[in-house]
Amino acid sequence: MGEIVGALIVTHTPRIANEAAAPEFTREMIRGMHELEGVVARLRPDVIVQSSTHWVTTFNHYALSHKRHKGVLTSSEAPEIIAGMPYDFPGDPELAEAIAKKANEAGAPAIASAAEPFMLEYGTVNPIQYLTPNFDVSVVPLSCCLMANIAECLRFGEAVGAAIRASSRRAIVVASGALSHKLVRGPSTWPTEENQKLDRQFIDMVTHGRADEIKSFFPNFCKTTQAEMGGRHVAMLLGATGGTFKGKLHAYGPSSGTGNPVVSLEP
Ligand SMILES: [Fe+2]
Repeated sequence: MGEIVGALIVTHTPRIANEAAAPEFTREMIRGMHELEGVVARLRPDVIVQSSTHWVTTFNHYALSHKRHKGVLTSSEAPEIIAGMPYDFPGDPELAEAIAKKANEAGAPAIASAAEPFMLEYGTVNPIQYLTPNFDVSVVPLSCCLMANIAECLRFGEAVGAAIRASSRRAIVVASGALSHKLVRGPSTWPTEENQKLDRQFIDMVTHGRADEIKSFFPNFCKTTQAEMGGRHVAMLLGATGGTFKGKLHAYGPSSGTGNPVVSLEP
Protein backbone atom coordinates (compact mmCIF):
# COMPACT_ATOMS: atom_id res chain seq x y z
CA MET A 1 0.00 0.00 0.00
CA GLY A 2 1.36 3.36 -1.04
CA GLU A 3 1.07 6.53 1.00
CA ILE A 4 1.41 10.29 0.64
CA VAL A 5 3.79 11.02 3.49
CA GLY A 6 4.07 14.74 2.87
CA ALA A 7 3.15 17.66 0.66
CA LEU A 8 5.18 20.77 -0.08
CA ILE A 9 4.56 24.13 -1.71
CA VAL A 10 7.90 25.42 -2.96
CA THR A 11 9.40 28.42 -4.68
CA HIS A 12 11.35 28.12 -7.91
CA THR A 13 12.26 31.76 -8.29
CA PRO A 14 15.16 31.75 -10.81
CA ARG A 15 17.46 33.79 -8.60
CA ILE A 16 17.85 30.89 -6.14
CA ALA A 17 19.15 28.56 -8.87
CA ASN A 18 22.74 29.51 -8.10
CA GLU A 19 22.78 29.88 -4.34
CA ALA A 20 26.25 31.42 -4.25
CA ALA A 21 25.06 34.29 -6.44
CA ALA A 22 21.58 34.64 -4.94
CA PRO A 23 20.58 38.22 -4.03
CA GLU A 24 19.71 39.30 -0.49
CA PHE A 25 15.92 39.30 -1.00
CA THR A 26 15.96 35.56 -1.75
CA ARG A 27 17.87 34.55 1.42
CA GLU A 28 14.79 33.90 3.55
CA MET A 29 13.28 31.68 0.83
CA ILE A 30 16.59 29.80 0.47
CA ARG A 31 16.69 29.23 4.23
CA GLY A 32 13.16 27.78 4.00
CA MET A 33 14.10 25.55 1.08
CA HIS A 34 17.05 24.16 3.08
CA GLU A 35 14.62 23.37 5.91
CA LEU A 36 12.56 21.37 3.42
CA GLU A 37 15.66 19.32 2.62
CA GLY A 38 15.50 18.21 6.28
CA VAL A 39 11.77 17.47 6.02
CA VAL A 40 12.32 15.30 2.93
CA ALA A 41 15.22 13.47 4.61
CA ARG A 42 13.06 12.75 7.66
CA LEU A 43 10.04 11.53 5.63
CA ARG A 44 12.23 9.22 3.49
CA PRO A 45 10.04 9.21 0.36
CA ASP A 46 10.56 6.76 -2.48
CA VAL A 47 9.35 9.37 -4.92
CA ILE A 48 8.55 13.05 -5.29
CA VAL A 49 5.59 13.88 -7.56
CA GLN A 50 5.91 17.51 -8.54
CA SER A 51 3.64 19.83 -10.50
CA SER A 52 5.44 22.84 -12.00
CA THR A 53 3.72 26.01 -13.18
CA HIS A 54 6.52 26.46 -15.71
CA TRP A 55 5.75 23.26 -17.54
CA VAL A 56 2.68 24.47 -19.37
CA THR A 57 0.82 22.08 -21.64
CA THR A 58 -2.32 22.88 -23.60
CA PHE A 59 -4.72 19.93 -23.92
CA ASN A 60 -3.48 17.23 -21.54
CA HIS A 61 -1.77 16.87 -18.23
CA TYR A 62 1.58 15.10 -18.67
CA ALA A 63 3.52 12.89 -16.29
CA LEU A 64 7.12 12.23 -17.27
CA SER A 65 7.84 8.52 -17.32
CA HIS A 66 11.58 8.57 -17.98
CA LYS A 67 13.71 6.07 -16.08
CA ARG A 68 16.16 8.88 -15.48
CA HIS A 69 15.92 12.65 -15.85
CA LYS A 70 19.32 13.75 -17.06
CA GLY A 71 20.35 16.85 -18.92
CA VAL A 72 21.76 20.33 -18.88
CA LEU A 73 19.28 23.13 -18.34
CA THR A 74 19.47 26.52 -19.92
CA SER A 75 16.30 28.49 -19.31
CA SER A 76 14.85 30.03 -22.45
CA GLU A 77 12.99 32.44 -20.16
CA ALA A 78 16.03 33.69 -18.24
CA PRO A 79 19.26 32.43 -19.89
CA GLU A 80 21.29 35.17 -18.21
CA ILE A 81 20.39 33.64 -14.82
CA ILE A 82 20.10 29.89 -15.52
CA ALA A 83 22.48 28.45 -18.10
CA GLY A 84 24.36 25.16 -18.29
CA MET A 85 22.82 23.76 -15.08
CA PRO A 86 23.33 19.98 -14.98
CA TYR A 87 20.74 17.66 -13.45
CA ASP A 88 20.60 13.89 -13.12
CA PHE A 89 18.05 12.09 -10.96
CA PRO A 90 15.93 8.93 -11.21
CA GLY A 91 12.35 8.82 -12.48
CA ASP A 92 9.51 6.41 -11.73
CA PRO A 93 7.99 5.20 -15.03
CA GLU A 94 5.56 2.84 -13.33
CA LEU A 95 4.04 5.54 -11.12
CA ALA A 96 3.94 8.08 -13.96
CA GLU A 97 1.98 5.64 -16.09
CA ALA A 98 -0.35 4.79 -13.19
CA ILE A 99 -1.04 8.51 -12.63
CA ALA A 100 -1.95 9.03 -16.31
CA LYS A 101 -4.23 5.97 -16.24
CA LYS A 102 -6.08 7.04 -13.07
CA ALA A 103 -6.39 10.62 -14.39
CA ASN A 104 -7.93 9.46 -17.66
CA GLU A 105 -10.36 7.29 -15.73
CA ALA A 106 -11.30 10.36 -13.68
CA GLY A 107 -11.99 12.47 -16.77
CA ALA A 108 -8.78 14.50 -16.58
CA PRO A 109 -6.99 13.75 -19.87
CA ALA A 110 -3.37 12.82 -19.17
CA ILE A 111 -0.41 11.30 -20.98
CA ALA A 112 2.70 9.60 -19.60
CA SER A 113 5.66 10.49 -21.79
CA ALA A 114 9.28 9.36 -21.91
CA ALA A 115 10.12 11.29 -25.08
CA GLU A 116 13.83 11.72 -25.76
CA PRO A 117 15.62 14.03 -25.72
CA PHE A 118 13.75 16.05 -23.13
CA MET A 119 14.92 19.14 -21.24
CA LEU A 120 13.26 19.89 -17.91
CA GLU A 121 12.49 23.53 -17.10
CA TYR A 122 13.65 25.42 -14.01
CA GLY A 123 10.30 25.22 -12.18
CA THR A 124 11.03 21.50 -11.90
CA VAL A 125 14.81 21.35 -11.49
CA ASN A 126 15.30 24.37 -9.23
CA PRO A 127 13.30 23.04 -6.25
CA ILE A 128 14.58 19.48 -6.68
CA GLN A 129 18.19 20.60 -6.21
CA TYR A 130 17.17 21.98 -2.79
CA LEU A 131 14.84 19.12 -1.75
CA THR A 132 17.26 16.33 -2.70
CA PRO A 133 20.72 17.89 -3.19
CA ASN A 134 22.22 14.48 -3.90
CA PHE A 135 19.61 13.85 -6.61
CA ASP A 136 18.94 10.46 -4.99
CA VAL A 137 15.12 10.40 -4.85
CA SER A 138 12.94 9.48 -7.83
CA VAL A 139 10.87 12.29 -9.30
CA VAL A 140 7.74 12.27 -11.44
CA PRO A 141 7.38 15.74 -12.99
CA LEU A 142 3.80 16.81 -13.81
CA SER A 143 2.69 19.60 -16.12
CA CYS A 144 0.01 22.22 -15.60
CA CYS A 145 -2.67 21.96 -18.28
CA LEU A 146 -4.15 25.18 -19.65
CA MET A 147 -7.45 23.63 -20.70
CA ALA A 148 -8.00 22.10 -17.28
CA ASN A 149 -9.97 24.40 -14.96
CA ILE A 150 -9.53 24.26 -11.18
CA ALA A 151 -12.18 21.53 -10.83
CA GLU A 152 -10.33 19.34 -13.34
CA CYS A 153 -6.96 20.06 -11.68
CA LEU A 154 -8.46 18.95 -8.35
CA ARG A 155 -9.65 15.74 -10.05
CA PHE A 156 -6.18 15.29 -11.53
CA GLY A 157 -4.74 15.65 -8.03
CA GLU A 158 -7.21 13.09 -6.69
CA ALA A 159 -6.03 10.72 -9.42
CA VAL A 160 -2.41 11.38 -8.40
CA GLY A 161 -3.36 10.47 -4.83
CA ALA A 162 -5.22 7.33 -5.95
CA ALA A 163 -2.26 6.19 -8.07
CA ILE A 164 0.15 6.69 -5.18
CA ARG A 165 -2.07 4.79 -2.75
CA ALA A 166 -2.45 1.92 -5.24
CA SER A 167 1.34 1.74 -5.63
CA SER A 168 3.95 0.56 -3.15
CA ARG A 169 5.48 4.04 -2.85
CA ARG A 170 5.95 6.50 -0.02
CA ALA A 171 5.45 9.75 -1.93
CA ILE A 172 5.74 13.47 -1.35
CA VAL A 173 3.58 15.63 -3.61
CA VAL A 174 4.96 19.05 -4.47
CA ALA A 175 3.41 22.19 -5.94
CA SER A 176 6.16 24.30 -7.50
CA GLY A 177 5.05 27.88 -8.00
CA ALA A 178 3.90 31.15 -6.50
CA LEU A 179 0.55 32.05 -4.96
CA SER A 180 -0.29 35.69 -5.82
CA HIS A 181 1.25 36.41 -9.19
CA LYS A 182 0.74 40.00 -10.30
CA LEU A 183 4.07 40.40 -12.05
CA VAL A 184 5.93 43.69 -12.11
CA ARG A 185 9.44 44.64 -13.23
CA GLY A 186 11.89 44.65 -10.33
CA PRO A 187 12.99 41.25 -8.95
CA SER A 188 12.85 42.19 -5.26
CA THR A 189 9.37 43.75 -5.44
CA TRP A 190 6.86 42.38 -2.92
CA PRO A 191 3.19 41.73 -3.72
CA THR A 192 0.78 44.47 -2.61
CA GLU A 193 -0.16 44.46 1.09
CA GLU A 194 -3.62 43.21 0.05
CA ASN A 195 -2.22 40.25 -1.88
CA GLN A 196 0.29 39.38 0.85
CA LYS A 197 -2.63 39.31 3.28
CA LEU A 198 -4.65 37.00 1.02
CA ASP A 199 -1.62 34.72 0.51
CA ARG A 200 -1.09 34.47 4.27
CA GLN A 201 -4.80 33.87 4.87
CA PHE A 202 -4.72 30.97 2.40
CA ILE A 203 -1.47 29.58 3.82
CA ASP A 204 -3.02 29.67 7.30
CA MET A 205 -5.97 27.56 6.09
CA VAL A 206 -3.68 25.11 4.30
CA THR A 207 -1.24 24.65 7.17
CA HIS A 208 -4.14 24.00 9.56
CA GLY A 209 -5.81 21.52 7.20
CA ARG A 210 -9.11 23.43 7.13
CA ALA A 211 -10.37 21.56 4.07
CA ASP A 212 -13.92 22.99 3.99
CA GLU A 213 -12.69 26.56 4.30
CA ILE A 214 -10.06 25.94 1.59
CA LYS A 215 -12.72 24.56 -0.73
CA SER A 216 -14.87 27.70 -0.60
CA PHE A 217 -11.93 30.15 -0.49
CA PHE A 218 -9.55 28.72 -3.10
CA PRO A 219 -11.29 29.42 -6.46
CA ASN A 220 -11.85 33.13 -5.75
CA PHE A 221 -8.45 33.46 -4.13
CA CYS A 222 -6.84 32.22 -7.35
CA LYS A 223 -8.77 34.77 -9.41
CA THR A 224 -8.27 37.75 -7.11
CA THR A 225 -4.54 37.20 -6.69
CA GLN A 226 -3.99 36.00 -10.28
CA ALA A 227 -2.32 32.94 -8.72
CA GLU A 228 0.50 31.52 -10.84
CA MET A 229 -0.99 29.35 -13.63
CA GLY A 230 -4.38 30.00 -12.05
CA GLY A 231 -3.38 27.98 -9.00
CA ARG A 232 -3.36 24.73 -10.96
CA HIS A 233 -0.23 23.41 -9.16
CA VAL A 234 -1.83 23.96 -5.75
CA ALA A 235 -5.10 22.41 -6.96
CA MET A 236 -3.16 19.25 -7.84
CA LEU A 237 -1.71 19.17 -4.31
CA LEU A 238 -5.09 19.79 -2.67
CA GLY A 239 -6.73 17.11 -4.80
CA ALA A 240 -4.04 14.62 -3.78
CA THR A 241 -4.12 15.40 -0.06
CA GLY A 242 -7.80 16.30 0.34
CA GLY A 243 -6.71 19.57 1.99
CA THR A 244 -6.56 17.96 5.42
CA PHE A 245 -2.78 17.77 5.88
CA LYS A 246 -1.29 20.12 8.46
CA GLY A 247 2.08 21.76 8.69
CA LYS A 248 4.00 24.99 8.68
CA LEU A 249 5.11 27.97 6.68
CA HIS A 250 8.91 27.93 6.50
CA ALA A 251 9.33 31.13 4.49
CA TYR A 252 7.50 33.62 2.32
CA GLY A 253 9.29 35.93 -0.07
CA PRO A 254 8.96 38.18 -3.10
CA SER A 255 9.88 37.76 -6.73
CA SER A 256 8.92 40.47 -9.22
CA GLY A 257 5.67 41.26 -7.41
CA THR A 258 4.69 37.64 -6.71
CA GLY A 259 4.20 35.89 -3.37
CA ASN A 260 6.30 32.77 -2.87
CA PRO A 261 5.61 30.44 0.07
CA VAL A 262 7.74 27.57 1.30
CA VAL A 263 5.35 25.21 3.08
CA SER A 264 5.51 21.65 4.42
CA LEU A 265 2.45 19.55 5.25
CA GLU A 266 1.96 16.08 6.71
CA PRO A 267 -1.06 13.81 7.14
FE1 LIG B 1 7.17 30.89 -11.66
